[in-house]
Amino acid sequence: MIDLKFDYSNALGILNQEEINHFQNEITQHYNSLNAKSGKGNDFLGWIDLPSNTEENLIKKIEEVASRVRQNSKVFVVVGIGGSYLGARAVIHALSNSFASINGNDGNPLIVYAGQNISEDYTNELLELLDNHDYSLAVISKSGTTTEPAIAFRLLKNHLINKYGHADTQKRIIAITDKSKGALKKLSDKEGYDTFIVPDDVGGRYSVLTPVGLLPIAIAGFNIRELLDGAKRMKDYIEKTPNIEENPVSAYAASRSALYRAGKTTEITVNYEPKLFYITEWWKQLYGESEGKEGKGIFPAGVGFTTDLHSMGQYIQDGLRNIFETVISVETPNSLLKVPTDEKDLDGLNYIAGKRLHQVNLKAETGTTLAHVDGGVPNLRIVLPEINENTLGQLIYFYEMACAISGYILNVNPFDQPGVEAYKKNMFALLGKPGFENETKEIYSRLS
Ligand code: PA5
Repeated sequence: MIDLKFDYSNALGILNQEEINHFQNEITQHYNSLNAKSGKGNDFLGWIDLPSNTEENLIKKIEEVASRVRQNSKVFVVVGIGGSYLGARAVIHALSNSFASINGNDGNPLIVYAGQNISEDYTNELLELLDNHDYSLAVISKSGTTTEPAIAFRLLKNHLINKYGHADTQKRIIAITDKSKGALKKLSDKEGYDTFIVPDDVGGRYSVLTPVGLLPIAIAGFNIRELLDGAKRMKDYIEKTPNIEENPVSAYAASRSALYRAGKTTEITVNYEPKLFYITEWWKQLYGESEGKEGKGIFPAGVGFTTDLHSMGQYIQDGLRNIFETVISVETPNSLLKVPTDEKDLDGLNYIAGKRLHQVNLKAETGTTLAHVDGGVPNLRIVLPEINENTLGQLIYFYEMACAISGYILNVNPFDQPGVEAYKKNMFALLGKPGFENETKEIYSRLS
């Protein structure tokens, strides 16, 4: 059984049931081609079986390395970009105390991130932090050649050597990369780093249930077995039937595809829990890189309410009517806090005194959904009973499978990202990378 629920009733009105059911046959075919590995991008379907075929030996190795890092490090740096860091960050942020710090993280290392930008200030401030605390790092790059993490890794490796010496540095670096290709693989073989492999048939943005996500999550002190179990529960559940009425993945893929067909070209994922901020960031990457190609695709956006009701709320209520929302609703928080009574009631809040903050949050959610639906913004809703490793595992697998099906409905390859190369080519030309001489000439003549 699964705990995650999905509901599209607040999209009915703009859509009718037939427009959603219209996608049933296609969805059934797409499940078949995913299972038969016969569709577009079929070299990259290894993620489908990760919840059921991740070997005990691998889980144990991850747990052992994590326990060693927890003993010798106050801080752990995840060096990676895109799919090589967002899954870990999403799960760790969702499960961590909102004010986790080096000295207040339940005895676990604080997880920080590098190589997801090229900002000099960000990287320098990170190095300053690391001057003062024991740390280790994982350098994560499937290709082993991505510029942003490679620059950060070079700086961090030098910093480690200056701080700990060469021999100790080797024990503080973990490499997660392709099994044979790329500069990182060569370096980690030479230096003898602990190494984990990103399977050939799993692309970056579908890799959170490989060591790419599992190792940082375990180091942060969270239960990766529960995460995998949640994903497996979702996998087993949706394998029973592709029917939209019973299968939440089919229902989500069908309703968002029907909304896209009806002109709703932007999907805004909404949370009412700041802990889910990076789940939205991970989802944006998964869906943006998987669907946005060949002039097609839903634009994935994200907001956090009620915070953004005081910024983006105006646009969502009254702006261009090309948007729909998918709310991730959490039924029960992990804490208990009530609005206090105040004798004088100068702020006029006594009418909610004694109510849990969460009850108020849920009323805000219902009120907002109704207002946005009235304003012409259809709402989809994913409900989690609470935020824990198991429900997050369910959510991850739900989103991954719905993304693959939605990509197939659009008739694009959801497992490649050819558009990402365009900026790289220009950047390499501008930086004068060897091998890009012609592009360098061309781009500087365009700029002069
Ligand atoms: O989903 C993807 O494939 C990308 O977002 C990659 O994860 C990202 O570009 C990083 O690539 P790499 O792991 O090769 O450094």
